[in-house]
Amino acid sequence: MREMTPADLDAVLAIEQSVQHYPWTRGQFADSLNAGHWCQVDEADGGLRGYAILMPAVDEVELLTIGVAASQQRKGLGRTMLREMLELARERSMRRVFLEVRPSNTAAVSLYRSAGFAEVGLRRGYYRDANGSEDALVMACDLGGDGNG
Ligand SMILES: CC(C)(COP(=O)(O)OP(=O)(O)OC[C@H]1O[C@@H](n2cnc3c(N)ncnc32)[C@H](O)[C@@H]1OP(=O)(O)O)[C@@H](O)C(=O)NCCC(=O)NCCS
Repeated sequence: MREMTPADLDAVLAIEQSVQHYPWTRGQFADSLNAGHWCQVDEADGGLRGYAILMPAVDEVELLTIGVAASQQRKGLGRTMLREMLELARERSMRRVFLEVRPSNTAAVSLYRSAGFAEVGLRRGYYRDANGSEDALVMACDLGGDGNG
């Protein structure tokens, strides 16, 4: 993977809008870039296949989003990208990665479990939209570091 730049936003948004049930807007991606979040993309043959964003806070990072282009799903790319993001966090002396996910997103929950994430909590009614609300599963993965590199 490599760092996402503003020039990637069109391609990232195209994937986002085609694979996420609740897609981020261009402004949200731009805000993440501007805020210095760790925004990475996977590129092959000149095209973007996926992206992931980590938000650091002291010695923990939150996985804000991860997406793989529909034509590239179920080939192991999501797992590889997630592993690389965890490695990036480990290299930067982070101790823990956590995330929130809709329990109905069985593909993502299963990916996270298989990558070593465990369920550590439930936020009731966390996601709200016109169709009602849904709980968020909170999952975490320890990186084994001591916070000092
Ligand atoms: C979640 C996502 C990133 C997985 O990417 P992927 O490249 O298809 O995943 P992989 O091929 O690496 O699969 C890894 C594991 O995830 C799980 N998984 C992936 N897709 C799945 C599906 N459709 N149904 C059930 N489990 C699935 C499986 O456990 C899989 O392991 P296996 O193939 O050995 O069974 C992809 O489905 C996606 O982009 N979804 C839309 C965006 C999204 O929901 N992101 C997460 C919330 S922000």
